[in-house]
This record gives sequence, C-alpha cells and structure tokens, in this order.
Amino acid sequence: MRDIIVIPGDGIGPEVTRQAVETLDALGLGLTFVELGHINAATYLSTGTAMLEADFARIRDSGLVLFGAIGDPRVAATDYARSVLLRLRLGLDLFINKRPARLWHHRLSPLRDGSPRDIDCVILRENTEGLYTGVGGSVHEGTASEVAIDAEVSTAMGVGRILEHAFAIARRGVCMVDKSNAVRSGGRLWQRCWADARAAHPDVPAAHLYVDVAAMKLVSDPEQFDVIVTNNSYGDILSDISAEVAGGLGLAASANVNPVTRSGLFEPVHGTAPDIAGQGIANPLAAILSGAMLAEWLGHTSAAEAVRKAVSVVVAAGQCTADIGGTLTTEQAGAALRAHLLSAGGHDE
Ligand code: NAD
Ligand code: IPM
Ligand code: MN
Repeated sequence: MRDIIVIPGDGIGPEVTRQAVETLDALGLGLTFVELGHINAATYLSTGTAMLEADFARIRDSGLVLFGAIGDPRVAATDYARSVLLRLRLGLDLFINKRPARLWHHRLSPLRDGSPRDIDCVILRENTEGLYTGVGGSVHEGTASEVAIDAEVSTAMGVGRILEHAFAIARRGVCMVDKSNAVRSGGRLWQRCWADARAAHPDVPAAHLYVDVAAMKLVSDPEQFDVIVTNNSYGDILSDISAEVAGGLGLAASANVNPVTRSGLFEPVHGTAPDIAGQGIANPLAAILSGAMLAEWLGHTSAAEAVRKAVSVVVAAGQCTADIGGTLTTEQAGAALRAHLLSAGGHDE
C-alpha cells in the first residue's frame, strides 16, 4: 500500500486538511499518511524553495497526494504556485482535473429562483497544457515597450486524451467548451479532436458551447450539464462558477489524476482564504469530499459514497459552518460529519 503524502500548505489548508485526514482515518481503510508540512509559504519565504527535489522524488514515488491549498499574501503568487502545485500537476502528468459540482441542498444555491434544483455536473479541466505550461517570456520589462507573451499550448495528444476521458465518465452527455470562434490554432485543434471523439462515441449525447455562453448557461440553467470538458484556464474559471451555483467553494472538491500511471492529487477547489484563515471557521467539507475522491480512486467506492451521504445529512441538518448557513467551527463540522458517518454503520468493505 502506497503512503499518502499530505501537503496541508497555507492559510486554511492545514485547518481543512486535518479534517480530511481524520475522516479518512475514521473510515478504517488502513491508509497511511506521511505529512510534508514544510511545503508552505514560510519555507518559500525563508529559503526560496518550498518543495525540494527530494520532496518531489518522495511524492513521485508515492504518486498519491492529499493537498490543502497554497498561497500567501506575503509571497509572489505565480512563482510559488508554479514551484509547488503546478509543478506537481505538470511533473506528475496529472492531466485530468475533475471538479464535480452537486447541489447538496436546495437552500444553498444563490440563484434567484430558489426552487429545488438537480445540479450535478463535472467540470473536466485539461490540467497540463493551455496557458499553464510556462511557455513564453517577456522583453523590455518594466519599460513602456514591455512585451509579454504566455503561449496557450494545445497538443493533439493532450486534447485527445481529456476528450476521451470526458466520454468515458459521461452519464447523460458531454459538452465541450472552447473559444474557437476567436482563438484560431488551438480552436481548430480542439474542434478537430472533438469531431474525432464524437465520432468514436456516437451513442453519447454531445454538445459544444463557446466559453462565454457556457459561463452564462452555468448560471441560468446548470441542470442541463453533465460533463463539461474544457481547457486549463476555462476549467479554472468555470469550476469556481459551478462551485458557487452548487453551494459555494466550501463544498467543491477535486481530483487531479492520471489513469495510466495511477497517480493522483486530491484537493479542494478553493484556495487558502486569507480572509478567514486562523479563525477555525473554514468549511472542511470540500477537503473531506476531496478525501472521498481519493478513497474512490483507491477502489473504496462504498466508503466514498458513505462520506457523500453523510455530507448530505449534515448539510440538510444545518450541522455545518457559517458559509453554508450553520454555526459550527471547522473542527465541529468535521466531527459532526464523522458522527453521522459512524452512526450510519460505516460502509460495506
Ligand atoms: P479562495 O478560494 O482562497 O477564497 C475565495 C473566497 O472563498 C474567500 O472569501 C474565502 O473566504 C472563501 N472560501 C474559500 N474556501 C472556503 C472554505 N473552505 N470555507 C469557507 N469559505 C471559503 O480564493 P482567493 O482569495 O482568490 O485566493 C487566496 C489564495 O489562495 C491566493 O494566494 C491564491 O493564489 C491561492 N489559491 C490556491 C489554490 C490551491 O492551492 N489549489 C486555489 C485557489 C487559490
Ligand atoms: C486552482 C487554482 C490554481 C489554478 C492556482 C492557485 C495556480 O486557482 O486550483 O483552481 O489556477 O489552477
Ligand atoms: Mn482556481
């Protein structure tokens, strides 16, 4: 059994990750954890490197990461994120970033029409290409003549494999989102790969939207979506929208995975929330649900389902943190979840 590397990170990362680990422990799956608590902004500030080569090697050997969040107002965001989170996503070739959005209770949707809604979609974000490769550079920096270029990289292999995965996990259909009416070369490549993928899966309902209208429809009619597959940047943005219409970032989980190498990094969609860090009030459910995605990835399907059921129960009962209408602290919310998990008799494994 591989050790699970735990990287709590910064801000609310350690607060919510602790609850995820305790919940995975409570499931009694025999998982073992190794915490790399030094991979954070304090280390980056004092040494210039948050994740050493030895850390990366250790993580690569395990191939399994439970991640909190990184980011600190004192640190230049781009270089730090590139050296830790993006290094792991790209370095481990975790090309699938799966971000489910499910409305756990109708009172949580901020949409104007408050009637019950069946929101249950997945943003499938290409996780290794697009604007995130770091290809580009700048000249004449700091002058009026400065030129800055960040290339948006799309490859036939990269686009083809994420589209293939979208069809593999579709329950009701796949919607591909791009900006091929404006972005010429990448747009053409996504459209060509999309035509091939559709032809290979004629039985799966398939639709295409430009990203601007996809953002609009995620707000006006999120129920129509099952799998939305898109590039790295659009997936980043659309997954915050889908999270919000389904109850907020406090509930949004994600899995960054590669089904060929079986590596995976599991993390809440949210960041380090400096505005509430240290107060013990962050919602731990996004981290706990990310832990459930990790359990599912390891084959513990009924354990993951038991966690999701317990989330439905505590949310409906209002036994949760303030962001979703409760009054509990992070620790109390985690404990309430585990109490329901255990009183429901666990899971059959
Ligand atoms: P954020 O997701 O940290 O916070 C956005 C808003 O959502 C804030 O008001 C915050 O209080 C609220 N929020 C987020 N998670 C919550 C939770 N679990 N419970 C209750 N409320 C919650 O986004 P931001 O403010 O743009 O970013 C803060 C830092 O986090 C930045 O440094 C950013 O780069 C970093 N970040 C990291 C990750 C990651 O590590 N995966 C993801 C996003 C942002
Ligand atoms: C996310 C975050 C990251 C991203 C940042 C922190 C680099 O916003 O995981 O959604 O852009 O992918
Ligand atoms: Mn994001």
